[in-house]
Amino acid sequence: MVSREDVLNVLKNVVDPELKADIVSLGFVRDVSISEDGVVVVRLELTTPACPFRVVLEKNVREVVSKIPGVRDVVVKIGAQVPHLPSVSEKMLGVKNVIAVASGKGGVGKSTIAVNLALSLALKNASVGLLDADVYGPTIPKMLDVIRPPFPIGGDKIEPGLSYLKMKVMSMGMLIPEEAPVIWRGPLVAKAVQEMLERVEWGDLDYLVVDLPPGTGDAPLTLAQTIPLTGVVIVTTPQEAALRIALKSLRMFMKLNVEIIGIIENMSYFICPNCGTRTEIFGYGNTMKVCRELNIPLLGEVPLAPEVRESGDTGRPIVIRDPDSPVSKEFLAIAERVAGRVSVIVKKKLETESKKEA
Ligand SMILES: Nc1ncnc2c1ncn2[C@@H]1O[C@H](COP(=O)(O)OP(=O)(O)O)[C@@H](O)[C@H]1O
Ligand SMILES: [Mg+2]
Repeated sequence: MVSREDVLNVLKNVVDPELKADIVSLGFVRDVSISEDGVVVVRLELTTPACPFRVVLEKNVREVVSKIPGVRDVVVKIGAQVPHLPSVSEKMLGVKNVIAVASGKGGVGKSTIAVNLALSLALKNASVGLLDADVYGPTIPKMLDVIRPPFPIGGDKIEPGLSYLKMKVMSMGMLIPEEAPVIWRGPLVAKAVQEMLERVEWGDLDYLVVDLPPGTGDAPLTLAQTIPLTGVVIVTTPQEAALRIALKSLRMFMKLNVEIIGIIENMSYFICPNCGTRTEIFGYGNTMKVCRELNIPLLGEVPLAPEVRESGDTGRPIVIRDPDSPVSKEFLAIAERVAGRVSVIVKKKLETESKKEA
């Protein structure tokens, strides 16, 4: 008869490539049950439903357990529980991670990336919210259909809007008329955003994606200090000028001790729909080079594609409109890499915090 210890022993050989520890020490193994006729059921609980190594882990578990003498079959069940940083915010207790999307320059596709990243995480079954904190150019209401708009729910609380995949969404553009120009300075912007964070009933979220204002000015700076961020994703295009300003904002976040999740290069290249030729319109390789030099993950390269703009203009983002398209596949891969990095960052922080306590 196979014992629980036998199974746990071999599971210690299965290592999470990103967290660089075995799944038993990581606490991923939630349950092991063994039937009398040798069927072993292993229940794993990962740190994100968007785990990039889900398939590999499942395969490795199956492999090591099936080698134990007496095992007739292996069933692997995988769930996920996104860990919570104790230091998030008292007023947003249900929000486990806040991921900011920032850029140096405007117009590089920051909002497009924020929307598609958030929806890709939701497609991977995470519970997700999207906050448009770009109060100067709140474009999210135009890019993303809202199936149910936000509404007040008594006290001074607001129920956020609902979009595709039950994703919660909130934007200043849903609260103030479109024509009203926003001329607020940083502190006021921060206050407005703080209100959207704290007065909105976000409920339980694995990830809240925040579309920050562009640049390294007042507004993004104050926000980075106001919002309890898990980390920031920087969006750039391959052009030297865009990349230079992106690096400036990257250094700003580093100075503020905000974790850098990684860089996404948008409008990387263009594939001709007629002949399939790849053209690197804005040059190629700069972002990758910079990432290597600074030891920062390059989270993905999103091509310039007419369907990305079209679907943004119609309110039905590409990952919803055509989840099997090459661009959507890149967005889904980016979401996995972001979720993976977030798990690593949270694990590191939890370890430091527990060391401080000890
Ligand atoms: N990869 C892409 N391919 C085609 N068009 C894109 C792509 N990324 C962004 N766009 C388009 O470029 C414009 C600017 O993008 P947006 O996300 O609003 O930028 P930002 O938020 O940085 O100002 C939008 O019209 C958007 O649809
Ligand atoms: Mg924008």
